[in-house]
Amino acid sequence: MSEKRTSIHGQWTSRTVFILAATGSAVGLGNIWKFPYITGENGGGTFVLVYLLCIAFIGLPIMMAEIMLGRRGKQSPINTMIALAKDEHRNPNWKWLGWMGVIAGFLILSYYSVIAGWATSYIFRTGGGMFVGVTADGANRIFTDLVSDPERLLAWHTIFMVMTMIIVSRGVKNGLEKAVTLLMPLLFGLLVLLVIYATTTGYFMDGIRFLFTPGTIDGKGILIAMGHAFFTLSLGMGAIMVYGSYLSEDYSIAQAAIWIALADTVVALLAGMAIFPIVFANGLEPGAGPGLIFQTLPIAFGHMEGGTLVGVLFFTLLLFAAWTSAISLIEPAVAYLVENRGVSRIHAAVWVGAATWTMGLGTVFSFNIWQDKTISIPFLFENLTFFDTLDYLTANIMLPLGGLFIAIFAAWVMREESAKEELATYPKMYSVWRFLVRYITPVAVIVVFLKAVGAI
Ligand code: TRP
Repeated sequence: MSEKRTSIHGQWTSRTVFILAATGSAVGLGNIWKFPYITGENGGGTFVLVYLLCIAFIGLPIMMAEIMLGRRGKQSPINTMIALAKDEHRNPNWKWLGWMGVIAGFLILSYYSVIAGWATSYIFRTGGGMFVGVTADGANRIFTDLVSDPERLLAWHTIFMVMTMIIVSRGVKNGLEKAVTLLMPLLFGLLVLLVIYATTTGYFMDGIRFLFTPGTIDGKGILIAMGHAFFTLSLGMGAIMVYGSYLSEDYSIAQAAIWIALADTVVALLAGMAIFPIVFANGLEPGAGPGLIFQTLPIAFGHMEGGTLVGVLFFTLLLFAAWTSAISLIEPAVAYLVENRGVSRIHAAVWVGAATWTMGLGTVFSFNIWQDKTISIPFLFENLTFFDTLDYLTANIMLPLGGLFIAIFAAWVMREESAKEELATYPKMYSVWRFLVRYITPVAVIVVFLKAVGAI
């Protein structure tokens, strides 16, 4: 019986630790680096609105489903899907859902690590006083210098991957609790400080208007907003599922999910409120792309009182936020290898890490020697670099697809008693969840897919 399962990888010591770990996974580069730049690229207000709707009606129900499946299965997503399909007397091919997640996590981490490398290098650049009194042009040049140098990018990417491998090989729990309880609130505080700085630029309201005034959006923009809702909440690939597998039975999943989503959303909105006023005050382009925060925040650090210290702290915290996310991206693969190959965590982490590192070379080069090599996929996108292609395929296709199947499994494939056992602590909340995950969430994902390819 599923109730008797225990995880061979251990258990969180409390519900708080689980919430912290999952929040650590959710809050990362997605909130502070990616959210502002894709919002800028997709025109602001409406994009933000669609993103928020996706968090509420797609993200939250799927997060509850993922935690629930993980807690019942108590194993890596692949083995969890095998076990649950068996419990429910369903087709064993559900394991492919787990596999898709493992592959998506590997692909995402391969570029995530490169961007985290940028953040690491910015700790030292800010610390060395490179940005004191810097102009927009200067900040832009410093950024271009970094990304056009493959060797430097490679060095930082390597350092980040090694650090991630070390943490994962020790098991995700150790150290995570301390890191997250201390560093998350600090990151939050610094973001608030940056928002306060943004109010002094004279362009604060322009930033707010950009973020919150509805404009237009096309089907592709909607897909990107939905993809980001998955990305930022770490959904659709089994990361939250594997964290759920370390959770004991007596905690409310709904409550935890609401906290995680709320914290994640607030951090993203704060980042947007800090960055766009700086963009407008300095005549920069909101759609500048992946370099946006690296071209804007240094201007703030270069001009505010004590900016060097604040900047060093900020990029250090961003690095920690990236770490606590990165470990969740490879945990499903590592847990699987430990379960099925009988290897130690250390071995598993080294193997997965080495493969991810190698894949990351493609992203390293796509900002310099391969920057003109582009990929097009009919109906989906045209002329994207290797990095943009990976990002598009994972965030906008694989994660929503994974999420869709997770919703279908939880709502249609699993017997209702099984879901109820996990989620019915609050009967009202359970009914809302059940309705959303059965009807609204899957239909919404499918509609967005169809709209993006122009089928409706
Ligand atoms: N959510 C993280 C961020 O916003 C990235 C991340 C961690 C992730 N684990 C994931 C994205 C699993 C998708 C799936 O930075």
